[in-house]
Amino acid sequence: MPSDRPPSPTALLREEHQLILSVADALSRVLAIDSPGGPPAVDTVEGCTTFFRLFADACHHSKEENLLFPALEAHGMSRDAGPIAVMLYEHEQGRALVQAMVELLEQVRAGIRGSEPDLRTASSNFVALITSHIAKEDGILFDMADHLIQGPACDTLCAAYAELADERYEGHSKQDLVDLAAEILEAG
Ligand SMILES: [Fe+2]
Repeated sequence: MPSDRPPSPTALLREEHQLILSVADALSRVLAIDSPGGPPAVDTVEGCTTFFRLFADACHHSKEENLLFPALEAHGMSRDAGPIAVMLYEHEQGRALVQAMVELLEQVRAGIRGSEPDLRTASSNFVALITSHIAKEDGILFDMADHLIQGPACDTLCAAYAELADERYEGHSKQDLVDLAAEILEAG
């Protein structure tokens, strides 16, 4: 979308963060509204896991890992220590938690005893992780990126983001996943 704002290496990613936080917040509300011991709204939680897998991870984290972080490395930052290493580690933790949620959802649907509290715990842990992770990126790493990546390097990065506009994630466009987020926010 054309913009009057100067190009930024992080504006698109910060914007995606806001949608991820909104869905995380909706998941928290779903977990809080459901009566303790009662079945969570499994369809909504399932929508959240799809969104977190395909939008937060496949669409968003991949841009960070394959485009932004290498651009930061080109400006002298290490991938093996410091903020980038911490972010990569937290991406891994997030993937593991979402995978656990996917598996626990199957168990809840199958009526397996004890799976509901475990699903609530995994979901809450993911919400806590992604919320603190995004706060660190927005407040620390992205500010560093805005300072370090300017001019032609910034233009190159933004062009690389734009090239992904037509990318599909398990057959879904980014817009499909934005629409899924809207459905979740309506339900949650
Ligand atoms: Fe991020």
